[in-house]
Amino acid sequence: MTVLVTGAAGYIGSHAVLTLADAGREVVAIDDLSAGLRELIPAAVPFVQADIADRSRIGAVLKEHRVQAVLHFAGSISVAESVRDPLRYYQNNTAGSAALLASCVEAGVRSFVFSSTAAVYGAPKILPVPETATLAPINPYGASKAMTERTLADVGAAHGLNWAALRYFNVAGADPALRSGQAGGEVTHLIRRAVLAALGRAPFAIHGDDYPTPDGTCVRDYVHVTDLVAAHLTVLDALAAGQSGVVLNVGYGTGTSVRDVVRAVEGAAGTTLAAPVGPRRPGDPPILVADSKRLRRDFGWTPRFEDLDTIVASALAWERKRTG
Ligand code: UFG
Repeated sequence: MTVLVTGAAGYIGSHAVLTLADAGREVVAIDDLSAGLRELIPAAVPFVQADIADRSRIGAVLKEHRVQAVLHFAGSISVAESVRDPLRYYQNNTAGSAALLASCVEAGVRSFVFSSTAAVYGAPKILPVPETATLAPINPYGASKAMTERTLADVGAAHGLNWAALRYFNVAGADPALRSGQAGGEVTHLIRRAVLAALGRAPFAIHGDDYPTPDGTCVRDYVHVTDLVAAHLTVLDALAAGQSGVVLNVGYGTGTSVRDVVRAVEGAAGTTLAAPVGPRRPGDPPILVADSKRLRRDFGWTPRFEDLDTIVASALAWERKRTG
């Protein structure tokens, strides 16, 4: 079964390609290289530089490689940017995904796994938030992904495409063998920014400490990218076996504040981090923590890197390797 990975040169997509290749699966990688880096994809994996919305190119790739399943990671990923430039998000994440789905339906693809986000919940009332919570995104990023979840449900019902939407919480860390990690694009994510600051390569600030949380800074559920990708392989198998409409949170269920992350980075790097408190960042919910019982119980997901210090250590090792 050949699996097409979109956004394959990006952070999560490249880890998915590595894991699929490690598992001996047939994989074809596509990316438009607008943010991704070609060098993150192993040379032995077939790579096509293409936009997911390019119906004829994508259609040709699906047919040529007899693709049966798609892992769809391509998309724009910054909450703050989505507030400044919403049309980019509705274009890339919503319209782009609809075009990709049209190509998949036409080519008879059997399974489709979509990288959704915890941002579809907005600022949830129930924490840890279960998959059954109402979708109420508070920024265009979350809204653009929620629309694609709805599109998938409708397309799946109409065309018999087996689908899953995995709602990622805060993905961080790097491949344990340091073959990939966060690279390229605008640096906005907390762990990467804090690690770069600890290495003396970028300034750092805490975006607000007046939230209704134990230490006043935002609380998130950080999940190691390798554990996240493992969930995709499990779900792919479930879809191939006939399941569909699989909606799953991917997080550990552990709340970690911005200050907790700062302390972990200081510990890993053996340094003190200047962490002045700046204003809140628009679009940030105070707390997002996953209820991931469904993934653990129904899909046997057993994380291997469920520890903040492990995540931070791998992010630091990757950054050291990358930037010397
Ligand atoms: N933060 C700082 N300083 C920084 C960077 C971030 O204080 O330099 C804070 C943010 O304000 C936020 C927290 O750290 O409170 C986490 O921010 P990230 O940018 O690392 O992550 P987000 O929570 O904004 O977003 C991420 C993904 C989304 C996903 C979301 C779900 O980018 O795709 O997690 O929780 F939807």
